[in-house]
Amino acid sequence: MSAQTTETKASTLPEVGTPPEPRDPEGSTPKDNEDPLHDRWYANQAIIDRLKGCAEFQELHILRKKASHIELGWERPEGDIHFQNTRQIADEPSLQTSKFFYKIMKDVGRDLHKATNAFAIPPCPGQQPRILDMCMAPGGFLATALMRNRGATAKAFSLPICDGGHEVLLPPGAAVDAKFLDITLLAADMGFDVHQHPHPHPDPHRFLGRHFQPDELFDLALCDGQVRRRHRGLRRGEREAKRLAAAQLALGLAHLRPGGTAVVLLHKLESWDAASVLWRFRRFAAVAAHKPTAAHTKRSSFYMVATNVRSRDPEALEAIEHWKRMWELATFGKGEEEGGGGGGAGAGGEGWL
Ligand SMILES: C[S@@+](CC[C@H](N)C(=O)[O-])C[C@H]1O[C@@H](n2cnc3c(N)ncnc32)[C@H](O)[C@@H]1O
Repeated sequence: MSAQTTETKASTLPEVGTPPEPRDPEGSTPKDNEDPLHDRWYANQAIIDRLKGCAEFQELHILRKKASHIELGWERPEGDIHFQNTRQIADEPSLQTSKFFYKIMKDVGRDLHKATNAFAIPPCPGQQPRILDMCMAPGGFLATALMRNRGATAKAFSLPICDGGHEVLLPPGAAVDAKFLDITLLAADMGFDVHQHPHPHPDPHRFLGRHFQPDELFDLALCDGQVRRRHRGLRRGEREAKRLAAAQLALGLAHLRPGGTAVVLLHKLESWDAASVLWRFRRFAAVAAHKPTAAHTKRSSFYMVATNVRSRDPEALEAIEHWKRMWELATFGKGEEEGGGGGGAGAGGEGWL
């Protein structure tokens, strides 16, 4: 490809929003704002700059544009109606759509397993396979994992339906210890006493006590949570997403048996957050990325499958502490920008994953 063509194509590549205001030259950023959106913009852009010369990335960008603008019709009124309908179905699913979603999640689980062997727990004499599902509903992954591991039991969390969570369609059984709660409120398990925190929370009674034994370990950790639009979480927008991601990553890894597997939903392979999670896991696990074809085809989401996770290595312990700190920043941070995004250096409480 000639330099001319490369340049023309590269110039069509995305920028990740508008650059933020330059950082205060005096460096007067508040302490609990160690990781503001300011830096994240440059970090995301740095990855895109590195990828600009990559033919696959250019092709991906063109395909994404086509999918969003033409096939889904962002340039036509039908596009708005399509998204409105999709949102409504997702927010208020009928039993029929819930059953469909459950089937899709089982298909995605099968696809993921076929490509990566993610759900296979190697048998260990005298030890029952244990699965941790941080966000179970409707239960497709857990159904797949239980089916693949004879005698396995699971501990699984799910956002209550009254808080906007999905219905669990996995048939009830003794193998699953299901807990219906908001996992972003598991402050005690994250190692925080909210009553002693230097930045008192206005709603301390919402946080939860321990739901894990300190030495409780699992062979497989599923971290597939996605913020629900109808859920009134403690925070809004990007911060709430960060609280959910950080809680799943910290608790999932902290309770993973050395040698175990973690399956984690991520978004946008080229974003700093996704790259950072992959980079961290690569320091103490074998890491693969997989995009299922049964779903997620028109979205940027994909799964990281980390196998043989050395969850007690210093790098893993450091990662757990890092995600706990991110949860703390996103939960107690003092930024005035509740909606996430565009807060610039004033949006305290943000952080990298
Ligand atoms: C993509 S679905 C998970 C699908 C599931 N892995 C399966 O195989 O069926 C995302 C889930 O995250 C849950 N979720 C979102 N926020 C949550 C929270 N704060 N606490 C617990 N679950 C949450 C949603 O209710 C939803 O069930």
